[in-house]
Amino acid sequence: MKVTVVSRGGKEFIKGGIELKNLATVGDLQEAIHHRNKKYYPSRQRLTLPLQSGSRGKPVVLNAKKNLQDYCDGNADTLIVVFKDLGMQVSYRTLFFWEYLGPLIIYPIFYYYYPVYQYFGYTGERVIHPVQTYAMYYWCFHYFKRIMETFFVHRFSHATSPVSNVFRNCAYYWTFGMYIAYHVNHPLYTPVSDLQMKIGFGFGLISQISNFYCHLLLRNLRGPGGNGGYQIPHGFLFNVVTCANYTTEIYQWVGFNIATQTVAGYVFLVVAALIMSNWALAKHHRLKKLFDGKEGKPKYPRRWVILPPFL
Ligand SMILES: NC(=O)c1ccc[n+]([C@@H]2O[C@H](COP(=O)([O-])OP(=O)(O)OC[C@H]3O[C@@H](n4cnc5c(N)ncnc54)[C@H](OP(=O)(O)O)[C@@H]3O)[C@@H](O)[C@H]2O)c1
Repeated sequence: MKVTVVSRGGKEFIKGGIELKNLATVGDLQEAIHHRNKKYYPSRQRLTLPLQSGSRGKPVVLNAKKNLQDYCDGNADTLIVVFKDLGMQVSYRTLFFWEYLGPLIIYPIFYYYYPVYQYFGYTGERVIHPVQTYAMYYWCFHYFKRIMETFFVHRFSHATSPVSNVFRNCAYYWTFGMYIAYHVNHPLYTPVSDLQMKIGFGFGLISQISNFYCHLLLRNLRGPGGNGGYQIPHGFLFNVVTCANYTTEIYQWVGFNIATQTVAGYVFLVVAALIMSNWALAKHHRLKKLFDGKEGKPKYPRRWVILPPFL
């Protein structure tokens, strides 16, 4: 079969096209493009079918595991595909590792390294309150857990992410990490009552453990290679809410903020909750669409999205 690869502007991207066996997959085509142009490794390529002139819909994205013939309309010997360069890619594990490493390192610097505050003009003695010590352990436990989950629990489906996301996500996590660490460890920090601290950290820890359990339940929805697509999550809080992992993530930040009480912490909580709510809405709609109860598919059960009883 002959595949003509064109750019989005319609120009021939691989001179003379590519000859492949009739049973070749989209993955084989990506390898062949990579062979002809070493810059474009498979995860950097997005291949679509050309849009019919006048059509306003989204183009069909070719699935690497499918046969090219599945995309041939009538003439099984030729195919035109549109190539898009997705830019440099990194694995999701790399992306998550770097974004979580920043807060894990930055926070203890503010706790242990008092001269940080001397740069800002504070010269007096510093008294470390118990809540500041517990907050440092709580924070580090949280980000250490996230890194461990990234490597040993999550079964990602997306192979890679654009490298620019590393900078964007690191900017988000590292800046908030600094902002919160600066305020919670500040020499003029006023601690909350002992009871409030215990309630906050107690509730936060229960939420962190629940969040870990939610991640185990999500993991079990897929096979070891990340195969299996999207399934209906069930068990524990997933029986009432679609994104129970985000719910427990938000609750654990609520616990941290009850115990530490800073404006910086609450700003992060609101921003994180807004981001996760947006993602949760998209995931909820995707599951409702995938499991619509038609053609023998199960129907997605009635559930809250992320934060019962509001959403
Ligand atoms: N504080 C914050 O701002 C913030 C923001 C986001 C996340 N987080 C934390 O980081 C954790 C991971 O975030 P995330 O956005 O990667 O979570 P996520 O998308 O909900 O999923 C975690 C893992 O489970 C898989 N998964 C999700 N739903 C599935 C389903 N229905 N069937 C099969 N597999 C499914 C995902 O697969 P895919 O690879 O296909 O997505 C991913 O590998 C969150 O749970 C939360 O604790 C914190």
